[in-house]
Amino acid sequence: MLNEWVEVSLPVTTEQEDEVAALFVWAGAMGVEVRDTTTLFAEDRGTTRVVAYIEQGTEKAFMDLLNPVLAASLDQPEEELAERFRMLPITRQEWNEFWKKTFDVQRIGHFVIRPSWKEVVPEPGDTVFVIDPGMAFGTGLHATTRLVMEAIEQLHASGFRPTRILDMGAGTGILSMAAASLFPEARIWAVDNDPDAVETAAEVIANNGLSDRIQVGLSWSEAPVDLVLANIQRDVLLELNPLFQRNLDPGGRMVFSGILNDQIDEIREKTNLPVVRNWHEGEWELVVFEKPATGG
Ligand SMILES: C[S@@+](CC[C@H](N)C(=O)[O-])C[C@H]1O[C@@H](n2cnc3c(N)ncnc32)[C@H](O)[C@@H]1O
Repeated sequence: MLNEWVEVSLPVTTEQEDEVAALFVWAGAMGVEVRDTTTLFAEDRGTTRVVAYIEQGTEKAFMDLLNPVLAASLDQPEEELAERFRMLPITRQEWNEFWKKTFDVQRIGHFVIRPSWKEVVPEPGDTVFVIDPGMAFGTGLHATTRLVMEAIEQLHASGFRPTRILDMGAGTGILSMAAASLFPEARIWAVDNDPDAVETAAEVIANNGLSDRIQVGLSWSEAPVDLVLANIQRDVLLELNPLFQRNLDPGGRMVFSGILNDQIDEIREKTNLPVVRNWHEGEWELVVFEKPATGG
C-alpha cells in the first residue's frame, strides 16, 4: 500500500521544543507533535522528539525551507542538523487517527473554529467556522494566524471599517472569513500562489457560506484596497511590500505576520510606514502599519 504521509522528526532538548515545533509549522507541516516518555508514542527516557507530519513528495521542499532557518535559530551547522532528522512513511489510517486525536475546537477571541466532527454551543457574539485539517496551512493552530485574527478583532473594536480587503497568502482562507464576518460591507480577495491552497480555500469558504463575499484566486489584478492581511514569511513580505503599498489607500492599513523576533526591525525599517501596533507571541511578531492619510 502506498504511504501518503511522512513523519519527519528531530530529537531536541526541552528548551528547544517550542521553537522547533513552531518552525515545523511555519515550514508547512500539516501537524506537529512533541513526544517524550509520557506520550502515546513514547520516546526513550531523556529523549524529546518533535515530529512533523507532511505529505509524501514534499519532503525536499519542506527540508529546503526549514533547515537553513532552523540551523540559524539553533545555532548549528546546516549539514550537521540535516543528518539528525528521521523520516518515516506513515499510513493514511495513522494520519487520520492522529488528526482526530489532536485537532480540537479552538477559540481565538470571538472566533471559534471547529472540525466537522465536533459540535460546539456558541456563546453570544461568537462566530463559528468549520474547518477540517486538510491540505494547506491555516487551521488556526499557529500563533501567526492567531495573532492576525486578534489584530482583525482589535481593528474592528477601534472603529476601523475597511471596504476592500486583500488577504495575501490566504491558505485555507481563515483570515478572509474572519474579516468577512466582522466587516460585512467589505469586498475581499483571498489570494495564494499555491494551487492546493486556492482549492482548499475555495472549498472551506463555500462550506462556511461565504463564497459570495470572498473572491479566491491564484493571482490578484491590482486594485485599491484599504486593508492588507499577510501572514507569510519575511522574504515574501518584503518582496510584496511595494505591491501592497502601491495599492493601499491613504489611511489604509497593512497587517504583517509570520515574522520572527529578530526580523521585526528590518521589516519595520524597510516598510517605512508608521506603525499602529506591534505585538508578539513567543518568537512571532505581528505589526500593523498605516499609510498616512496625507500621502506617503
Ligand atoms: C503561513 S501561511 C498563512 C495562511 C493563512 N493566511 C493563515 O494565516 O493561517 C502562508 C501562505 O502564503 C502562501 N504564499 C507564499 N508565498 C506567496 C506569494 N508570493 N504569493 C501568494 N501567496 C504566497 C503560501 O502558499 C501559504 O499558503
